[in-house]
Amino acid sequence: MNQQRRFTRSWPCLVCALCCVSLAQAVEPAAAADELRISGGPYLQAPSPRSMTLVWTTNRKCTSKVEYGLSADRLTETVRAAQHGLVDANTTLHRVIVNGLRPGTKYYYRVTSTEILEFKPYKVKYGPSVQKEGYFTTLDPAKERFSFCVINDRHDRAAELRQALASIDWEGVDLVIALGDVMNDPMSETQIFEKFINPCVEAFASRIPLVLVRGNHETRGLMARSLMEYFPTASGRFYYSFVHGGVHFLLLDGGEDKADTSPEYSGLAAFDDYLAEQTDWLRRELQSQNFADARFRICLLHIPPAVDAREDEKKFIRSPWIRNHWSPLLGQAGIDLMLSGHTHRYTELPADEDRAYPLVIGGTDTVIRVDVSPEQLRLATFKNDGTLLSRPPDVPARKPAK
Ligand SMILES: [Fe+2]
Repeated sequence: MNQQRRFTRSWPCLVCALCCVSLAQAVEPAAAADELRISGGPYLQAPSPRSMTLVWTTNRKCTSKVEYGLSADRLTETVRAAQHGLVDANTTLHRVIVNGLRPGTKYYYRVTSTEILEFKPYKVKYGPSVQKEGYFTTLDPAKERFSFCVINDRHDRAAELRQALASIDWEGVDLVIALGDVMNDPMSETQIFEKFINPCVEAFASRIPLVLVRGNHETRGLMARSLMEYFPTASGRFYYSFVHGGVHFLLLDGGEDKADTSPEYSGLAAFDDYLAEQTDWLRRELQSQNFADARFRICLLHIPPAVDAREDEKKFIRSPWIRNHWSPLLGQAGIDLMLSGHTHRYTELPADEDRAYPLVIGGTDTVIRVDVSPEQLRLATFKNDGTLLSRPPDVPARKPAK
């Protein structure tokens, strides 16, 4: 009886001990996960010959800086983001523009975020800091040879995206173009990072700039109106141009694929005005010296001017609109190539009577690599596993190589 009583008394103690052990095990990783950390990025945005933008997130509110220099052990310069005289602070999204750089130059960088524990009018209490290091190379309009890769219509399929990015030979790749619908109607920051940015950062985006061309699915969802915060551009617009390695990149934004009045948009689409404004800009851009001087002119536009046979033109108005309005302007101005997505079917179309330039439409599981040299654009399209799908015809330089 005594023995039984002793056993009964000791049993709860044993349970207690086991509980304590399992609780300690459960608490330890949770505490570590809660520590200040860089939760996304850094990734490179808005590349130019003289500037680069670094974007990253932290799991706690911080203030941040970027130190940079020409060698990894001599980060001689420091820059912090500030607006209206106030250093960016008490935020989890960090965006720092590094200006005053030299073209075609490799820079090493270190991002630092310092936690803000308490933010009072006359006293800010700082906590610990976290850092990450990397490097980037600025654009160089005069560079003779480089490569860029294009992905499109990944629609949140992160596993396939990871596989495709892991199969790329990064040697010589200076840019990655995300040609629209790489996200799927983004509803949260977590979705944007987990489904798209994190796979890019793991593969390249902290050392090779990521250039987003907006697709129609990036205009949908709660985060559509904040997209520029995550994918900033120098112009503050989703349509703009830049020059690298003799190529004039012309980025256009076709907006939504259906009419503004379509019930799907609940009265919140205003793309008619946006496209008219963009057309004015496009006419000016096609007259610009940068466009005239380029060895190659490549238009990047998610919705192609070729109508998908499956689509009802009365509902999906954008592709015929682009075919009728922008395509003749681009053809007359003499673009050398258009790269698109949207149809979910890999397609190569040579120039014809209606379209004075070749068009290559990426599929949902393709990586298009373009090797640029003074003589030609050499294209190769790969599947997710890195096997060659197709070699579209070379695009010769219009101007003689200098
Ligand atoms: Fe699309």
